[in-house]
Amino acid sequence: MTERNSAAQHAATSNRRGFLERVATAGIASGIAAVLGERSVAQRVTAKPATDRDPFEFDPENDPDETFPQSIASGGPTSNGVILWTRIDPAAYEPSEPLAFEIATDEAFENVVSDGIVGAESISPEHDYTVNLDLDGELESNGRYHYRFVYDGVASRTGRCRTLPATGADLDSLSLAVLTCQDYQNGYYGAYAHLAESDVDFLVHMGDFIYESADGQYTSPTADVYDGREIELPSGSPLAETLDDFRHLYTVYRADPLLQRGLEQHTLIAGWDDHEIGNNWWWDDEQDAPRLPEKDRGDDPEFTIDVAANGIQAWIEYMPCRVEYDPDATELHEQLQLWRSIEFGDLATLVRTDERLYRDGPPCGEQRITCDNEDAPNRTMLGDEQREWFLETVTTDDARWTVWANEVLTTPITAGKGYWQTEFIHDSWDGFQAERETLMTTIADADVRNFVTLSGDLHCSIAGYQRTTYNEWWWVDSDPVGVELMTPSITSVNAADVVDFPGDVDDDAVAGLVRSSNPHMEFVNWHKHGYAVVEFTRDDCTYTVYEVDKTVDSEAAAKRQIAAYRIPDGKIDLEELDVRADANYIDVDSEGKAVTVNGTGETGVEATNESETAPDPPTGEGWRDDP
Ligand SMILES: [Fe+2]
Repeated sequence: MTERNSAAQHAATSNRRGFLERVATAGIASGIAAVLGERSVAQRVTAKPATDRDPFEFDPENDPDETFPQSIASGGPTSNGVILWTRIDPAAYEPSEPLAFEIATDEAFENVVSDGIVGAESISPEHDYTVNLDLDGELESNGRYHYRFVYDGVASRTGRCRTLPATGADLDSLSLAVLTCQDYQNGYYGAYAHLAESDVDFLVHMGDFIYESADGQYTSPTADVYDGREIELPSGSPLAETLDDFRHLYTVYRADPLLQRGLEQHTLIAGWDDHEIGNNWWWDDEQDAPRLPEKDRGDDPEFTIDVAANGIQAWIEYMPCRVEYDPDATELHEQLQLWRSIEFGDLATLVRTDERLYRDGPPCGEQRITCDNEDAPNRTMLGDEQREWFLETVTTDDARWTVWANEVLTTPITAGKGYWQTEFIHDSWDGFQAERETLMTTIADADVRNFVTLSGDLHCSIAGYQRTTYNEWWWVDSDPVGVELMTPSITSVNAADVVDFPGDVDDDAVAGLVRSSNPHMEFVNWHKHGYAVVEFTRDDCTYTVYEVDKTVDSEAAAKRQIAAYRIPDGKIDLEELDVRADANYIDVDSEGKAVTVNGTGETGVEATNESETAPDPPTGEGWRDDP
């Protein structure tokens, strides 16, 4: 197992305890504690039982969607396993029916390397029929596998998963698709269909996998909820509050066929950001409870703890994720520990932080222009314990690339200088400047070989330099510490959703405006949706941004490369690479058909871009032919 966070190391044990035990509520004194104590999360594989009927037997004619409407997924990789995920449709649920699983090295399942049964007692309405099956210890390191579930004679679609390399193993390359911000009501998931065809090693999600909204609250003021994207929460509330609300959101998002394709074909390393609970939420130390600024009772601790615990439980149920979760705990901070590190052999270490559960509130409340509290020395986003762990992990890491999976923009985004300088986003690290400086100074002093930060949340793509200080009074910055690479939103609202002129004119105008006041940024694009691929080798790191048209609910949504940068090993330097204008991409013609296009707009050309030209889709049982 290569997760170094000691807490994460016993995550499986902790989870297992939670899975198997009903939480005792007796003896919990306060109402707030009782809110947490009434929960239970359970799923666990048991030994294969003797049974009259072979639980692995299925009729290939049976439709997997009717039994597995959220399909399957894998996540939480270790060097010897993954977590496999599925959910049984309530209409197909039989209380005495076990769930069989198989993992094989081949798609035909002729070489099965692990199989077993999830006991019927571990599948129940109590956990919304979800199953998180932890196979840590069952698989080979750096392995690629095919897997499926069988329930009551119906096979799921076949997925692919992969494990991490062994600890310290030589690894020549690693490619991570970096994803964030996928408001279901604000677009379609063509990006996931393209990812399904991509040969990236893992999906790294930076958070906002769901939005807690059902009323289009976070869509563009100039646009409606996209067709077919209406949501009605069980509580009737516009924003999720109850456990059923959050579960409903996950069932809706995870029922999307394009999203399913991406998750079926890759192993997910999941994080979260604010919308898994509520927009811009933070932790109020005085009330010892979350604050939910968008909700009517967002300052009522009993309500906010309940909402946050509901969001956390649904997230745990629906996201295959290796985190420490202890539903027995009577404090939210004790229930969930999301921060952890993941080693990819000797090549890279991914250090994930939680930037919501411990963060202070906005530095000046709603006020921005004259706020002067954003650099107060005691303000924290990480909290003391997480910050210590983070700095210890980063400064002692000996991988070639030390990669911070960070939720919100670390570098400043300001206008003006001196007294008139205005930070636009206090929810990002601009609202926590003293702690940012502590992090950057400590990392700079430790002389980390290559420090790369992956960020999400802001719905734009940015490549920039991190520094210990960003001089507020002069156009002089300190030496760079690392680079920050932000991935665009898959669907969530950006500048183009509000105002979008033809071509890239307005893209360039906004980028120019932002960069003129923020010279640490080399590249900014606030108009394109899609994702980024960050690839690490012994020689360099490359950051490639892909635009995918979110307005088309199709696997053939247009995709094109919009930026690429290279960071050489041992240098903090963003070298701009040619956007592959000569490379082919998939577009949609006037009749809605997918066509191959080259950079000059010529259609019907032969594919030339091998690494990013979609290969033939996998064939065989379980592959969806018609999205
Ligand atoms: Fe977002």
